[in-house]
Amino acid sequence: MKITIIGTGYVGLVTGTIFAEVGHDVTCLDINEDKIILLQSGKSPIYEPGLDMLLQNNIVNGRLCFTSQADEAFADSDVIFIAVGTPQEEDGSANLNYIHKAAEDIARHIKHNVIVVVKSTVPVGTNDYVEKIIRNHISSDIEVHVVSNPEFLREGHAIHDTMNGDRIIIGAEHKASGDVVEALYEKINVPILRTDRRSAEMIKYASNAFLAVKISYINQISNLCEKLGADIASVADGMGMDKRIGRAFLNAGLGYGGSCFPKDTRALSYLSKKNNVSMSIVEAAIEANTTQRQLFINKVVDHFNGNVTDKRVAVLGLAFKPNTDDVREAPSIDIITALVSSGAKVSAYDPVVKNIQVLDDCNVVYAQSKEICVENADAILLVTEWDEFFENEWLASVIQNKQIVLFDGRNMLNKNKEEILS
Ligand code: UGA
Repeated sequence: MKITIIGTGYVGLVTGTIFAEVGHDVTCLDINEDKIILLQSGKSPIYEPGLDMLLQNNIVNGRLCFTSQADEAFADSDVIFIAVGTPQEEDGSANLNYIHKAAEDIARHIKHNVIVVVKSTVPVGTNDYVEKIIRNHISSDIEVHVVSNPEFLREGHAIHDTMNGDRIIIGAEHKASGDVVEALYEKINVPILRTDRRSAEMIKYASNAFLAVKISYINQISNLCEKLGADIASVADGMGMDKRIGRAFLNAGLGYGGSCFPKDTRALSYLSKKNNVSMSIVEAAIEANTTQRQLFINKVVDHFNGNVTDKRVAVLGLAFKPNTDDVREAPSIDIITALVSSGAKVSAYDPVVKNIQVLDDCNVVYAQSKEICVENADAILLVTEWDEFFENEWLASVIQNKQIVLFDGRNMLNKNKEEILS
């Protein structure tokens, strides 16, 4: 099958690479020419374990190519995937400008029957809208069907998740088009659920919001555990043994960040308001997630009796979670901003993220190594749980040897206490 992917962000790039890996002929299209040049040379613009090698192999074997030219990309493709971003508007709604543009581009260039698959996370009804735009602009003898196929990969595990996910959702109104999309996944051994388009779109939002609720729930339970002397890790383990609950996404800490949960929970809330339906559970989760960061900041400030002026704070981890270089909605940004504005001196270290642009005015010293980061620190803040902080018990021994207070934002060390004072 000849596949074209519009958008080379996380979803588009990984999906395109995996489709090439399983034998399809894939062209990835992006308007960003610098990105295309980088990709043509076999380099990934994002940090994603294992991606570079797959990219290079498939470019060399001729199954994967990159272009910024729409006519070239669409020329003989059987299936076009839309995998562009749907960033958040100020009111919480999803911005569909890139989706709209992709649909118009397809309509402008397509001269043959084609199936269009929307992989981007889009509000319910967007697939109908995309089909309408395309059909309104093409001649009536060309057949176009739009199929919803939302993405469930996690950053940092993108390749593994694509090959070993829990499900592939295919939402189609036109059965034969759904069958073609299903066939694309033939060599990927993941269960497939066929639905209508609107249900497929909703499955994506409902899943992300559910996981966000789960995290906020365990964080609030964790806050109560701390007051009452219960151990949140044991509580999560015990809860997780109930198969109806499950242990995944019950790790308490600083809460969720990234480009998906914050954006998708707000978009779901927006969508429910527009339709006069209460989404109070998701809204409570959003609020709890914001509060969770503030509670952490308060703990640090309280430790220094309300005055962090000139206190040297070492922040370990900047990415919103390990194994990614993504800092969108990362807790590190709120924490550093708050502490710096209260007078603290922050040094930060992340194995992959070497600086954060939005913190340019914060005078953060970006350390070359974790060892340099914690040198002379008055407090260490574990913000992202990268493996290298725990290798050979490095962090535990730093706390022990240097007698420094640790604020364990990910509940990784002493499972009985949020804060470890040696
Ligand atoms: C999430 C979903 O897990 C994917 O299924 C989905 O495809 C993706 O969003 C998306 O919509 O594109 P991702 O944002 O990459 O994936 O990251 P997750 O691993 O889900 O973590 C999200 C956030 O929750 C992180 O900030 C993480 O630190 C936090 N988290 C996760 C917790 O605080 N506790 C947990 O137990 C698990």
